[in-house]
Amino acid sequence: MTDSPLRNLAIIMDGNGRWAAQRGLNRTKGHEKGAEVIREVTTYCAKHPTIETVTFYAFSTENWKRPKLEVDFLMRLLDRYLQNELETYQKNNVRFLAIGDINAFSKKLQERIRTTEEATKSNKDLTHVLALNYGGRAEIVSAVNRLLAKGKTEITETDISTALQTPYSDIDLLIRTSGEERVSNFLLWQISYAEFYFSHTLWPDFTTEELDEIVTDYEQRTRRFGGLK
Ligand code: IPE
Ligand code: IPE
Ligand code: MG
Repeated sequence: MTDSPLRNLAIIMDGNGRWAAQRGLNRTKGHEKGAEVIREVTTYCAKHPTIETVTFYAFSTENWKRPKLEVDFLMRLLDRYLQNELETYQKNNVRFLAIGDINAFSKKLQERIRTTEEATKSNKDLTHVLALNYGGRAEIVSAVNRLLAKGKTEITETDISTALQTPYSDIDLLIRTSGEERVSNFLLWQISYAEFYFSHTLWPDFTTEELDEIVTDYEQRTRRFGGLK
């Protein structure tokens, strides 16, 4: 059994497009089904006794390279998701937090994100983090720039950890679905000692039963952090 309980979970949700293509559907259908899975996984995490935060990679700084129609659809889906989710966040005592540079989004979507954060800021059972227009390198660079702007001339690891946008400095477990085994610029600083789990399931087919198995797998691992155990 691990003596490092699972507190901070991160998920690279991948495979929405392939899920839709396998069914002869438009990629947008995969994103729609994927959003439902986020809801189920978040509810699981809110009920879990040790999970404090779950961070989903929803839109990377590189995802602007996709066709405008798909990007526009993802923006509308996010707006709809947050609108529908507010009641569930309140019911499950979940705080919502966005990381990434949301200034690139429409004023309406920025407003939706800010009001959802504000309305849920006192909720304590879980923090549900969505990475939106997020890139791990960009996050580190802006943390360093913020420290320089404050007049720092020498920067420590603790300085950077606290200047990052995430409410934690270390991820315990990173899951990526769809069989791809890469990090794609996600939480680069925070995953330095994370456990990794790569699932072949496409994100729209991912279930809380599989998550439960992955969490059990995590609990069997020995995390050494460079020491001996
Ligand atoms: C992940 O699924 C969702 C986003 C990146 C927004 P993809 O859209 O990357 O799906 P695949 O990788 O093309 O199957
Ligand atoms: C990573 O998935 C980004 C998100 C899940 C939001 P991608 O599908 O964009 O990553 P690559 O291009 O396969 O590395
Ligand atoms: Mg992908």
